[in-house]
Parts: sequence; structure tokens; C-alpha cells
Amino acid sequence: MLPRLDDLIVAFDRGLRTVFAPAQSVRATPGEELPEADMSEEQRRLSASLMRVNHTGEVCAQALYQGQALTARDPASRAALEQAAREETEHLAWTERRIEALGGRKSLLNPAFYAGSFAMGALAGLAGDRWNLGFLAETERQVVAHLDGHLKRLPEEDRKSRAIVESMREDEARHATSAIGHGAAELPEPAKAVMRLTSKVMTTTSEVL
Ligand SMILES: [Fe+2]
Ligand SMILES: [Fe+2]
Repeated sequence: MLPRLDDLIVAFDRGLRTVFAPAQSVRATPGEELPEADMSEEQRRLSASLMRVNHTGEVCAQALYQGQALTARDPASRAALEQAAREETEHLAWTERRIEALGGRKSLLNPAFYAGSFAMGALAGLAGDRWNLGFLAETERQVVAHLDGHLKRLPEEDRKSRAIVESMREDEARHATSAIGHGAAELPEPAKAVMRLTSKVMTTTSEVL
């Protein structure tokens, strides 16, 4: 049941690249064709900090998926998780580019969030594939709710950031549906509450740090 050493080395390498190297995207950045909005300094700062939170969320998504794939038993589940992780890499690239364009910076806490999320993902994987997928489905549902909140807070003028968040929201909703389609179990309410609390810690700290 223990992961093999070369899988661990690959996972460690992916972690370093997620946190420290620029992410690559196959799909074009949503809203690329839109003009840059004329925003006040305050609006720009708000957008940059919200996009920093979303970038950290994507760092966590990478870590969760990699952790889950490391301990998932069924090869089909592993393949699905690895495929989803590749899609999340695009979100990582989009948010990273947007932060740069807004003159913001990435969260200083990303290495710690990566490590914590990786451990959570690996634990979920050890619980067995139905729970692993259930954890994934619930995570994605909570991410969709979080992104809805950001769509309310992002400046109306910042159509470029909004286009990215809207595309991510669509993808995350699809990830949840696909996990349910693969046989995800419904998590008990206390587990969901702990997950909400954990992500609250992540979103509030990365908004400032
Ligand atoms: Fe994502
Ligand atoms: Fe996702």
C-alpha cells in the first residue's frame, strides 16, 4: 500500500515545479482578447489580491491531486486524477499571468500550503477510491462556491480577471460532476465543515500574505 520511492521522487519534483517554476498552459488564457481596464489603484490592488488567493487555491489543487494520485489504488482513478491535475495546471498558469499583469505577487505561503494539501490528498487516497473521489467532488463544490464569492467581489471593470474566474468555475464544476460519475461517496457533514474551515484559513491568509 506504500507509495514507491520513484513515485515519491516524481511527486516531490512536481511540487517544486508547481511552487517555484512558471506554469504552462495549452489553452489560451480566458479574456486574453479583452482590453486592459482602466482601474483605480485600489481596484487593481483588490483584483491582484483576489487573484493571488485563486492562484494559491490552484497550488493547493495541484498538491491535492498529486497526493491523491500517489495513494489511489485503482489505476483508472489514478489516471483520472492525473488528467485533472494537468487541467489544474492551466488554471495555475492563467492566475499567475493575471497576477503579473496586475502588478501583484504570489503568496509567500505557497510552499506550506502545497505541503499541507499534498498530505491531505495522500490521506484521502489511503481512505480508498470512493472516499478519495468524494473528497475531490466536495473540494470542487466548495471551490465553485468560493469562486462565486470572488465574482461578486472582483471589480466589474476587471473583465480580464472575471473571464479567468468564470472559466475556472466551469472547469471545477465539471471536475465535481466527473468525480461523482466515477463513483464518489458523499462525505459526512463534519468532514465537509473541516474542509470549509481549512480553506477559509487558506483564503484569508493568502489574501494578505
Ligand atoms: Fe482549478
Ligand atoms: Fe478542479
